[in-house]
Amino acid sequence: MAAEPIVLFDNGHHKCLMFDSLVSGEGVQSNQFLIVDGKHEALIDPGGDLTYTPLSVAASRYMNIRDMDYVFASHQDPDIIGAIDRWIVHTRAKIVTSRLWARFLPHLVSSYVTNQLSGSVYDRIVSIPDAGANVKFGDSYLQCLPAHFMHSVGNLQFYDPVSRILFSGDLGASLGGDDDHLPVKDFDKHVPSMIGFHRRYIASGKVCRLWANMIREMDVTAIVPQHGKRFEGPEMVNRFLDWVSSMDCGIDLMTQENYRQPVDYV
Ligand SMILES: [Fe+2]
Ligand SMILES: [Fe+2]
Repeated sequence: MAAEPIVLFDNGHHKCLMFDSLVSGEGVQSNQFLIVDGKHEALIDPGGDLTYTPLSVAASRYMNIRDMDYVFASHQDPDIIGAIDRWIVHTRAKIVTSRLWARFLPHLVSSYVTNQLSGSVYDRIVSIPDAGANVKFGDSYLQCLPAHFMHSVGNLQFYDPVSRILFSGDLGASLGGDDDHLPVKDFDKHVPSMIGFHRRYIASGKVCRLWANMIREMDVTAIVPQHGKRFEGPEMVNRFLDWVSSMDCGIDLMTQENYRQPVDYV
């Protein structure tokens, strides 16, 4: 199986590619990203077993998978890094993730796989502190930005200073829309496909506002989430920052009504 990626950026030396249609069956639509800088390659949020095979086949057209430098994981979820065992055994890549998940991710790797490795799983994980860090990549670097509680407690986003694209993980995600390969054209029409997800999955409006303050100081030309459509150009980036920083979500919306013993059966 092969899928044509969307080219988000390409200056001949540095490329950012997005795969938006590798999920089949019942998994939620998700985007996976391949960043190439010269002879160096990295994947961002490659997913679980559902996308491992189609992604590795599709990405093989651009690189020798085995020699990939990094797999960047914004957080610990199945649709982010569920197939960590396969990436670890079939490539030499280091897995870059929050220090909060570095000791938990080895639970996804069986002892059968561990026995095939020369070192330990933990040796393959680059553990990023809460303040974030820059990770050298080819002639450039990828910036691991703090985005904690959006939604995971230890949550990173990845900024590429060459393309000036921010890979925002679950922040900005939209579900159930059509044409996920296209950028958002009408922000107001797009809001209904984002709002339910953000109200329930993102921890609070406070962190959204702090995060937006950080992003406004940066030079970001596009915000590309892991689900659904992306925000391209200054107008859409600013509309998203304004929207997300004015939102009540997560614990802001919780009342005693949300914490009662259930009476219904499923
Ligand atoms: Fe998630
Ligand atoms: Fe997700």
